[in-house]
Amino acid sequence: MAASPLLNLTVSPSGMFAGPGKIGCEAVFVFQDSGKKAIAPQGRYKALGERLRKDAEFSAALGAVEFVRFGGSDAALDVAFVGLGQPSELTLEKIRSAGGSLWTKLKSVKSDSAAICLDMLLSAKGVSAEFSHAHLARALAEGLVLGAYQFLKHKSNKGKSGSDSANAAGPSKLVFVTHDKKLKAELEKEFSEVAAMAQAVNLTRDWTNEPSNFGTPEYYAAEAKKLARLHGLKCRILTEADAAREKMGLFLGVGQGAEREGRVVVVEYTPKAGAKGKAAARNASKTIAFVGKGVTFDSGGISIKPSLRMENMKNDMTGASTVMGALVLAAQWKVPNRVIGIMAFTENMPDGKALQPGNVITSRSGKTVEIINTDAEGRLVLADVLDFAQDFKPDAIVDVATLTGAVTIALGKFCCAILGNETALIDSVRRAGESQGERIWELPLYDDYFEDLKSDCADMRNSANDSYGGTIRGAIFLKQFIRKGVSWAHLDIAATASDLTHLSYYPKKGASGAYVRTLARFAADF
Ligand code: BES
Ligand code: MN
Ligand code: ZN
Repeated sequence: MAASPLLNLTVSPSGMFAGPGKIGCEAVFVFQDSGKKAIAPQGRYKALGERLRKDAEFSAALGAVEFVRFGGSDAALDVAFVGLGQPSELTLEKIRSAGGSLWTKLKSVKSDSAAICLDMLLSAKGVSAEFSHAHLARALAEGLVLGAYQFLKHKSNKGKSGSDSANAAGPSKLVFVTHDKKLKAELEKEFSEVAAMAQAVNLTRDWTNEPSNFGTPEYYAAEAKKLARLHGLKCRILTEADAAREKMGLFLGVGQGAEREGRVVVVEYTPKAGAKGKAAARNASKTIAFVGKGVTFDSGGISIKPSLRMENMKNDMTGASTVMGALVLAAQWKVPNRVIGIMAFTENMPDGKALQPGNVITSRSGKTVEIINTDAEGRLVLADVLDFAQDFKPDAIVDVATLTGAVTIALGKFCCAILGNETALIDSVRRAGESQGERIWELPLYDDYFEDLKSDCADMRNSANDSYGGTIRGAIFLKQFIRKGVSWAHLDIAATASDLTHLSYYPKKGASGAYVRTLARFAADF
């Protein structure tokens, strides 16, 4: 797994790095004035800042990082000036993004360590008072650790000296400096949560990026078991024989053309009884089920996809990897609710035994489905595990899936869709997303949309004749498997699972790891 840099904290009266230990570079935050010119920093870098401002080499726009090399000795550290734009427009998400930009710069100039001077960020005038100093510093740490992710597992030369900068490891040490002793104490706790968060998000990214010749259902089941042991989670693995006993006809149908066997993985986090005693903890605690689509490769099956960009379909298990990351994070954050993660891993492949258009299969719920398009497989897989999830009697179910290409048409590349049967649940997932800077937009779930999924010979069909409202149709299909009175929401993450590039703390290519933080936050607050 990709290691994240250690987050160290130190107090120095000047607010600038003063040891202990050697540091190669100091990062200084710079805001823009209303004329969009850099505001020269006070203190050690005043003169240099003035010069940069005069030459207009550096306007302190968000994302701009100016690196000035002095040799990195004790007497003269290199300096990275990090632009934050105008103070009145600062948001936590922009700070995270600046953290990502800083990391990218440090890596490209091969800096091995950096002191991050918090005081200039925290003392700026005009920043919204809604953000506490701890929030601002935490967001910066989040941007740095998330921006540091790389997937090097399958590179033969990983982060070694002499490797090209694309493979270089980046700084191994970050020291956050402030003059404020109280803030340091507060940040110790925040940073340990950030470190846990980075670990969870990066595990999701690793799983998603794994090519499907390695990332098989069996592989993810084994990894889930290891992670469960490490984090004190219960873990149960259902093989295809177990799934057959569970009558998961749709789940098994999708995997029927694949050589590799599918797995359903159930991981469970139970909060420890708190100081209030066991009974009180049990009463307060709700049960949440997260359900993830884990199609390890989606070729489309007999309704095979075009070959252009088919390689991206190794990410069709991002729902499952997001659920695993969220469970690991919920456990590390010790959220007060019980959380069950159900991940359905299978491959969608064409073969002599594969599902054929026109086939009718019976779901775990007993409802029958006519297969129109074998590429609408995610909803089949999810229907059976959603039914299974309801046997646990959860107070809320949230499923996560790369379900439809149509969500990119509806909302574009930088936002996921939520649909569900209860406004209160949808709103609390959206609020959790907002608190993390992860975008979620609601689409309607009108029952009329089921008209297009009516079948002549079965209870429903898995796709319609045209492609209108594809995301809504996918959700309306899932809704047929939600029992009366059960609160359920569905996140369609097909657009945002990979190549999410609007902020610089996301990798330029591959898995984004988005919505792990949202789900864990939701589990904490529900
Ligand atoms: N895994 C795909 C959805 C997808 C598409 C994810 C592009 C990421 C990028 C899903 O299984 C699928 O193929 N959906 C079909 C549904 C259709 C056949 C009703 C789609 O979106 O075209
Ligand atoms: Mn598909
Ligand atoms: Zn799919």
